[in-house]
Amino acid sequence: MHSMTIFPARAVRGSLSVPGDKSISHRYVLLSALADGQSAIEHLSTGADVATTIKCLRSLGVEITSTGPSAVSVAGRGWLGFLPPTSPLDAENSGTTMRLMAGVLAAHPFHSTLVGDESLQRRPMRRVIDPLTAMGATIASDDGRAPLHFIGPRPDAPGGRPGGGLTGLEWTPPVPSAQIKSAVLLAGLYATGETTVVELAPTRDHTERAMPLFGLSCDIRGSRIRVVGGQRATAAAAPLCVPGDPSSAAVWAAAAASLPGSSVQITGVALNPLRCGFVHALRRLGAEVTMTQESVEGGEPVGSIVVTYGDCRDAHIEAAEVPGLIDELPVLAACAAAGRRLEVSGAAELRVKESDRITALVAGFRALGVDAVERPDGFVIDGRAQASGGRADAVGDHRLVMAFAIVGLAARGQTVIDSADSVAVSYPSFEADLHQLIT
Ligand code: S3P
Repeated sequence: MHSMTIFPARAVRGSLSVPGDKSISHRYVLLSALADGQSAIEHLSTGADVATTIKCLRSLGVEITSTGPSAVSVAGRGWLGFLPPTSPLDAENSGTTMRLMAGVLAAHPFHSTLVGDESLQRRPMRRVIDPLTAMGATIASDDGRAPLHFIGPRPDAPGGRPGGGLTGLEWTPPVPSAQIKSAVLLAGLYATGETTVVELAPTRDHTERAMPLFGLSCDIRGSRIRVVGGQRATAAAAPLCVPGDPSSAAVWAAAAASLPGSSVQITGVALNPLRCGFVHALRRLGAEVTMTQESVEGGEPVGSIVVTYGDCRDAHIEAAEVPGLIDELPVLAACAAAGRRLEVSGAAELRVKESDRITALVAGFRALGVDAVERPDGFVIDGRAQASGGRADAVGDHRLVMAFAIVGLAARGQTVIDSADSVAVSYPSFEADLHQLIT
């Protein structure tokens, strides 16, 4: 495993675009694979997670051809058209691959197995197993963890045909999660009757926005999201272009908010309001942030974000805000480490991400000389004293690599980040983009 070395920087300045959004990419590739006909997707996420979804789909008989850098053409296999895989499908480090794929495999009438790397095999899967089982799927697991074995819908499932043997249901996920919501809605396409997900709090709605691009209707009434089973997906009529990943944009936004004299513009970013919670948090921490919507791509608002160093203010992020910035909490913490106090609560979900992001973040920040305190459901960062730099272990978690790097930019001395290869999970060009912005 490689380490990454970060040197203190005076400021970050410039304009850049970031790779395609990871969440939207997974959904476009998966829905294209389920559809009748050929779909073209451009500006796909370059991260390892989306490559993993593509590999799994190829093992299910889907022809996916590279048509350019980060562009693919997908020959959809149509209604329940996946072929039985000859070996376990490896979701590697990708929770989105495993949970979304679970929704689809639950409906297919063959045996299949989803495995993952050590990190993914530790993550909770009962949250998708439970609703899919209630719909009539048979899924064996290692006490709610991967490997997940799909035995196809039960032969005695009350639904019968023309669906995939599943029956529609109404489900309230116990935690706000777009992955659970999406797994249930995808399975609902193959179920008899209606399937409704009731959300306790709004989560990213990329599945709901993507479905109509494939001729699927999805009805949204407040917190209730409903699909009717038996709908056949059709290939996207025009090439789909994935907007830039706001989670990657947030890294540069946090860097600009950390270093006096900084100003960064990130163009072509998905400005979906359910992904831009970090913008509001950065403003509260004292940064000047403007968001300008320029277009709509595939039902997603797209535009630019400009972040200029402002001043240092203290902030508190509470439970209600968490689903809208869960993946950005590590870089927001890094921004706080440069002169502010940030308290995060109601974010226990961080403990079941690619790592236990509360324990590992606090340990890494402390190793870099930041005053950080762990709480059961969050953490407190007190950044009034400058970080020293040092050596921090990202424990194979891409979001921690980037957060430690931002701390390192504002530190007194050099920072070495161990287990940094994982940055490629969502942002392989992270180091190259960093060097472009450093002054
Ligand atoms: C994702 C949903 C979120 C997020 C993850 C991507 C998605 O996870 O943290 O990085 O693409 O649906 P949860 O559904 O577990 O909250």
